[in-house]
Amino acid sequence: MSLITFAASPLVITPTVRSFTFSPPHHRSNHTVMSAVRSESTSTCSVLTKFQKDCATPTPFLRDVANAIADDMQAGLAVHGGGDLEMILTYVDALPSGKEEGLFYALDLGGTNFRVRSVQLGGEEERVVATKSEQLSIPQKLMIGTSEELFGFIASKLSDFVAEKEPGRFRLEQGRKREIGFTFSFPVNQTSIDSGTLIKWTKGFNVSGMEGKNVVACLNEAMEAHGLDMRVSALVNDGVGTLAGARYWDKDVMAGVILGTGTNACYVEQKDAIPKLQNKSSSGTTIINTEWGGFSKCLPRTIFDQEMDKESLNPGEHLYEKMISGMYLGEIVRRILLHMCEAGELFGQSVPVKLSTPFTLKSQDLCKMQEDNTDDLSSVGSILYNIFEVKADLKARRRVVEVCDTVVKRGGRLAGAGIVAILERIERETKRLASGQRTVVAMDGALYEKYPQYRQYMQDALVELLGDELASHVQIKHTKDVSGLGAALLAATNSIY
Ligand code: BGC
Repeated sequence: MSLITFAASPLVITPTVRSFTFSPPHHRSNHTVMSAVRSESTSTCSVLTKFQKDCATPTPFLRDVANAIADDMQAGLAVHGGGDLEMILTYVDALPSGKEEGLFYALDLGGTNFRVRSVQLGGEEERVVATKSEQLSIPQKLMIGTSEELFGFIASKLSDFVAEKEPGRFRLEQGRKREIGFTFSFPVNQTSIDSGTLIKWTKGFNVSGMEGKNVVACLNEAMEAHGLDMRVSALVNDGVGTLAGARYWDKDVMAGVILGTGTNACYVEQKDAIPKLQNKSSSGTTIINTEWGGFSKCLPRTIFDQEMDKESLNPGEHLYEKMISGMYLGEIVRRILLHMCEAGELFGQSVPVKLSTPFTLKSQDLCKMQEDNTDDLSSVGSILYNIFEVKADLKARRRVVEVCDTVVKRGGRLAGAGIVAILERIERETKRLASGQRTVVAMDGALYEKYPQYRQYMQDALVELLGDELASHVQIKHTKDVSGLGAALLAATNSIY
């Protein structure tokens, strides 16, 4: 029986642009140093065996993780700060109905890129009449600069986009502003549908003085300074945008999950099951942004995870995210490889200098290595050579692939446990799965999209924990880039005009 169905998605692996040659460069000595002292007693094999043991996630263990996430969800719904998961009230009570009409904009900020989009909505019959979008990268220095610099840059690009892409026939009615849905993919303490203060940065952002500030006010001010007649009508997380955008096309969508650079899950909750909701008489549903990346209990953290966390921009925070999301998988692998070199002889006698540079190994590299089907693992060899300038023999290449697999398996399975916690929470209130109703999880993020092994491990965990029968009604649907549409739709639903 086919269990969880995975909607067809283009499994495109970005082609490598690194060239490869095995002939050693002339000046290797500049790049490779001999380590001073190395204990020969610990072999790379025993390091690997211990690492695999420490990372193991057998089914009963995953069950405990799913239960612990569920407990933290409940605690976070009961009282603000009750558990690791923020369980943020998003003020999104009405999901798109399909009747939305008009021209709306969306801005998506959450990683090294930001995206602007315009969406012309034509109501129930015509749905999305036209959409235009543009993706721009955020210069690294703005990710750690000031809020004025960051929002000024975004507003100026948004202003260019409107000037270039707005349909010539569009006329802004007098006294009105254009409306935009702002997808801001960081933990925000939402105070209304169109305001919220930043709780903390994640994913390598560290713009000074922003924590506790209203992010919508920052954007509105910058837009005004650029003479842009536009207002933020909805502030949404990317998980919420994904859920809303996917729900527009499919009424069975109950959750939005992001597995990309960072990770998160948002889902439809019954209002009367949220004790911390001020208005106790509320009925109906609302969207909860779990911020599950903050989960920290009973995780199989190794010394490598701990050291990476300690040196991160947000030590002690988002520990689950640091084990399952795309930003960190390569870095964990790099750390264990470095340890193997120092403890044994992974790449010969020397410890390559480049292996000591943080974040040089990306999750795409792990994926390419795991996809290598050649007998001599030639692409593994070339990737290692291109990134670290090491010549790895077959034994070493095999070992590296095993390390990648261990980290990716742990990440995928832990992500699966998280999804099960969300599904079981929805099930508790709705009994959808038990009654045979299809339940869809809208999924976005490059890690999920581009890493087949990760997806498979995640799927295995889902089936193991849910059981065949319930799992057969779950669909994980890859809904690429739908959060912009979701944000524009929520701007329409919450239009002030
Ligand atoms: C942020 C979330 C976001 C997720 C995916 C995490 O680091 O805390 O708000 O939804 O990344 O982008």
